[in-house]
Amino acid sequence: MRISVIGCGYLGAVHAASMASLGHDVVGIDVDPGKVARLAAGTAPFYEPGLPELLAEVGRTGRLTFSTDMAAAAGATVHFLCVGTPQKHGEFRADLSYVESAFEALRPHLAPGDVVAGKSTVPVGTAEDLAARLAGSGASLVWNPEFLREGFAVQDTLHPDRLVYGLPTDDEGVPTPEGDAARALLDEVYAAPLSEGTPLVVTDYATSQLVKVAANSFLATKISFINAMAELCEATGADVTSLADAIGYDARIGRRFLNAGLGFGGGCLPKDIRAFMARAGELGVDQALSFLREVDAINMRRRVRMVDLAREVSAGSIVGKRVAVLGAAFKPNSDDIRDSPALSVAAQMQLQGAHVTVTDPQAVENARAKWPDLKYAATALEAAQDADVVVLATEWDEYRDMVPEDLGEVVAHRAIVDGRNVLDPKVWRAAGWTYRALGRP
Ligand code: UGA
Repeated sequence: MRISVIGCGYLGAVHAASMASLGHDVVGIDVDPGKVARLAAGTAPFYEPGLPELLAEVGRTGRLTFSTDMAAAAGATVHFLCVGTPQKHGEFRADLSYVESAFEALRPHLAPGDVVAGKSTVPVGTAEDLAARLAGSGASLVWNPEFLREGFAVQDTLHPDRLVYGLPTDDEGVPTPEGDAARALLDEVYAAPLSEGTPLVVTDYATSQLVKVAANSFLATKISFINAMAELCEATGADVTSLADAIGYDARIGRRFLNAGLGFGGGCLPKDIRAFMARAGELGVDQALSFLREVDAINMRRRVRMVDLAREVSAGSIVGKRVAVLGAAFKPNSDDIRDSPALSVAAQMQLQGAHVTVTDPQAVENARAKWPDLKYAATALEAAQDADVVVLATEWDEYRDMVPEDLGEVVAHRAIVDGRNVLDPKVWRAAGWTYRALGRP
């Protein structure tokens, strides 16, 4: 199958490489010449485990090319829209300008029988609007949301939990003949994961768009639920990690995504719950999602609480104190700093008068570009040199595995705030550290 992938960010670059590895002929298209040049040279423009190897593997086959010219999409049969939908400046709504411009640029290059497959996370109603603009062209639109996690993007793309096709349907909700034809093409694209038994949900446009934001809203709610419990634990001397273990054994609840701490960030969860609330408001059902406002508020409160804890272990003030922040990425195994809780905490402490040094195995370069006023170090030991307090903000393995004695050698005071509840308090306290965490005594 000849495929084009429009937008080569975290989603598109991985999708393009993965589709090529499944045996398709793929062209990745992006407006950023720097990104295209790096991808064309076989280099990943961001940190994603497994992507460099995949690019090298498919590079040898010649099945993957990149271009800045939308005309390169001509001749492909399925065109995946993978551009970003960030939060609009000063509003909760999603900024659809990249979807708009990519779609309009692609339109003249579509041939009858082509399928545009939307992967970007969009407010419900977007697919219907785009499909209407294809009427009479002979090309059709499907909505095919993506559920990959950064850090596991290659694995999630090649072996997804599920596939969802939102097809054009008639008044009774039955796929139109155009919808059936589009489905057959997608089945061909995804023949490998489908043959592994990947569950497939075939539905209408509205449901397919809602599935994505519903999934992310559920995940965000799960995290904020446990963080709300952490607040209760803090007020009562209980331990949220034991609480999460205990409720997580109930298979109906499940332990995954019940890790209390600094909360969620990144380019997806925060902006998706906000865009969902905004869309619900437009649809006149804002009450249905008013709980997401609380989910957001609980999440943001954790960042403030983290700064409070740093202050508590610094004898009541962080003014003039040296603080080492371990982690800049919004989660481990990524260099993505979009809405990173770690950097939000680092910046707050700096603004409040602390001297903050940040380190991260992969995200320092991105962090420095966004927050040039913070100090950066290459390693945890370097960042913690003479520190009055160490703040663990992103749970990279190398921070989980730190030896308290080694870190203790370089700091000025043995005080640590574990923002991700990944260290063993007993071990750290035994080594003479003042250990504090969110939701733990
Ligand atoms: C999220 C979803 O998990 C993906 O399924 C979805 O495809 C993606 O958004 C997207 O919309 O594109 P991602 O943003 O890569 O994926 O990150 P997650 O693994 O969901 O983590 C989000 C945040 O939640 C991170 O900051 C993480 O540290 C935090 N988190 C996660 C917790 O605080 N506690 C947990 O128990 C789990």
